[in-house]
Amino acid sequence: MKIPFFVQEFTDEMENAAIDSLRNESFVGGESVVKFEEEFARYTGTKYAVSVSSGNSALQISLMSLRISENSKVITPTNSFIASANCIRMTNAKPILTDIKLTDGSIDISNVKDKADAIIPVHIYGNPCDFDSVKALAEQQKIPIVEDACQAHGAMYKGKKVGSISDVGCFSFYPTKNMTVGGDGGMATTNNEEIEKKIRSIRDNGRKSKNEFDKLGFTMRLNTINAAIGRVQLKHLDEKNSRRREITEIYKKTLLQDCLLPENVDGKSVFHQIVIKHEKRDDIRQELSKNDIGSAIYYEKPIHMQEIYHEYGLTLPNSEKFSKEIISLPSYPSLTNEQVKVIAECVNKVIN
Ligand SMILES: Cc1ncc(COP(=O)(O)O)c(C=O)c1O
Repeated sequence: MKIPFFVQEFTDEMENAAIDSLRNESFVGGESVVKFEEEFARYTGTKYAVSVSSGNSALQISLMSLRISENSKVITPTNSFIASANCIRMTNAKPILTDIKLTDGSIDISNVKDKADAIIPVHIYGNPCDFDSVKALAEQQKIPIVEDACQAHGAMYKGKKVGSISDVGCFSFYPTKNMTVGGDGGMATTNNEEIEKKIRSIRDNGRKSKNEFDKLGFTMRLNTINAAIGRVQLKHLDEKNSRRREITEIYKKTLLQDCLLPENVDGKSVFHQIVIKHEKRDDIRQELSKNDIGSAIYYEKPIHMQEIYHEYGLTLPNSEKFSKEIISLPSYPSLTNEQVKVIAECVNKVIN
């Protein structure tokens, strides 16, 4: 049986919401946008949520709202999607690319030596990072925290939703994420009214009022049709995250070795990626491919090894080792229990 790595979801409910919004609302700035923001804020337990055009724009605008600019330095881990670091460079600031823990691939604060102006921890693979250590560093350096929660919609840390435990939380709705808007999209969450107002303004050309502009900004709004689809997806997020947990449990029970990355003991992951770490990673990948089973590697090249970061001349041993041993297995909610067992058995043939 062929098992793809990812299957894009499109339901009648999404279609109806999309068509309804096109027929009845303004294409930009319609009522669905306002409702999606209210519902997302309620879901994450924050006062405000501002929708934007992508996770990347959420990150970049959040940094701008915190006055990050040239001469600023921002700490971020090197095991993440490139946007976690590029958002910093887009503000003309300098990323301090930081090595990770070999256990779960999240930022290892003990590696930070520089004084910075902000920190972007990443809840990588949907698993909350060790936020207490991030917070301790931020308090010591008196700097704000922008959570990169682009892979972690619904994840919890010590009983609170990620995206609600820092100055700003940033989410992506890219189609592979735990929830989508049927295209690119993002959200910034915050409890700070001043930050909320700035993000709202920067996403809309720096607008102060209808015909007044008091800062530089972009056109980085979320379209109404995407907000309408996002509302449907948000409604089903918890049930889909529960299914991802069930799938993880089946992998755990079936795999012959305990090679799944661990869940944060203080948190609740939403298993955006189900990642195993094993020295025989390349053999596992080959065996899966031989059996028509999709897999992926996040991330094959840590950020500091990407061409545009060569000039930084960094060697970060943990992330370099980690990237050679990890592989993501299919994890989407529509996988059947039978399919999960077939995938795990296939891995077992290599690791037993
Ligand atoms: C950890 C992380 N940060 C940032 C982003 C950027 O989000 P987007 O692709 O919506 O710009 C992504 C998603 O691809 C991500 O996984």
